Amino acid sequence: MTTTNEELAYDFLDVVEQAAIACAHTMGLGDRHRSDRVAVEAMRARLDHVPIDGRIVIGEGERDKAPMLYIGERVGQGANGAEGLPEIDIAVDPLEGTNLCATGAPRAIAVLAASERGGLLHAPDIYMQKLVVGAQSKNAVNLDAPVAHNLKQIARCLDRGVEDLVVVVLDRKRHESLIDEIRETGARIRLIGDGDLTAAIGAAVVGSGIHAVMGSGGAPEGVLAAAAMRCLGGEIFARLIIDTPEKEARAKSMGIDEPRRIYTSADLASGRQLVFAATGVTEGALMKGVRFFGEGCRTSSVVMQTSPHRVQFIDTIHVKEQAGRRGLRF
Ligand code: FBP
Repeated sequence: MTTTNEELAYDFLDVVEQAAIACAHTMGLGDRHRSDRVAVEAMRARLDHVPIDGRIVIGEGERDKAPMLYIGERVGQGANGAEGLPEIDIAVDPLEGTNLCATGAPRAIAVLAASERGGLLHAPDIYMQKLVVGAQSKNAVNLDAPVAHNLKQIARCLDRGVEDLVVVVLDRKRHESLIDEIRETGARIRLIGDGDLTAAIGAAVVGSGIHAVMGSGGAPEGVLAAAAMRCLGGEIFARLIIDTPEKEARAKSMGIDEPRRIYTSADLASGRQLVFAATGVTEGALMKGVRFFGEGCRTSSVVMQTSPHRVQFIDTIHVKEQAGRRGLRF
């Protein structure tokens, strides 16, 4: 991605906006598969118009299980025969937080990250142990250190007491002992039903009220979080959880030969020219959810790039054809 970098960032913004709008119509309908499907379809349809020779590296799964946005699928105008376009690798999560959307709970988002070819790790869809912190704490923590040590370090870096910290953890049975360990330190916890990627973005933004994300979640979400960290200056420390021979073989087939390795954002999203775009589907602190009104809808997004290095919060009014004639009410 060189000269067309900025235009591409706006193309990718449009892709996540369309995915968010599509699934926001299904908010609260209680059908997470439908919510996900419409987000995937909208994202796929919009990607076709983007002037890239794109390749999905993190997507909806294997080709035989996912009808679209499967790993290895070619997308963009290049997939339809156009030539001479930039070769771009793409990681997508058309709806991060399918349950959140299906129940109308906060913090569901539509997300995409892009890089020049080879700049995003091909991570298998397995769990990943994660520790996400903001820029101020990133040099003071270690994924293998005791929870109490890391929290003490984060508190020191942020010039506050451990009991003033807020740690986000996915509310899962597998996190019972992690939650106990955090509670023993006196730190506060925000248990979330889903959406550790949204939480990770929060951990890297000063003033979000999130000081760390701990626990295991999806590896694909980990790669997307890494792209966001590269843009925001925060850090993710992560290790794939490879606990069966099948997962080991799968990881190996995807080029991962050090199964115990601790990855950082520069390993997971190594691209020099990264773009990260996300649009709120349901309400969130950084991005509002999609709001519909008679003449169209309004979306709230973040678009970040490493080159030029910038972070943009973008509020868009999408006007239905002809609607503008009556004047807009939003
Ligand atoms: P979906 O959007 O695919 O439902 O994933 C949501 C999520 O909560 C992620 O944010 C998280 O990384 C992962 O699921 C955790 O997986 P699990 O629900 O199996 O604990």
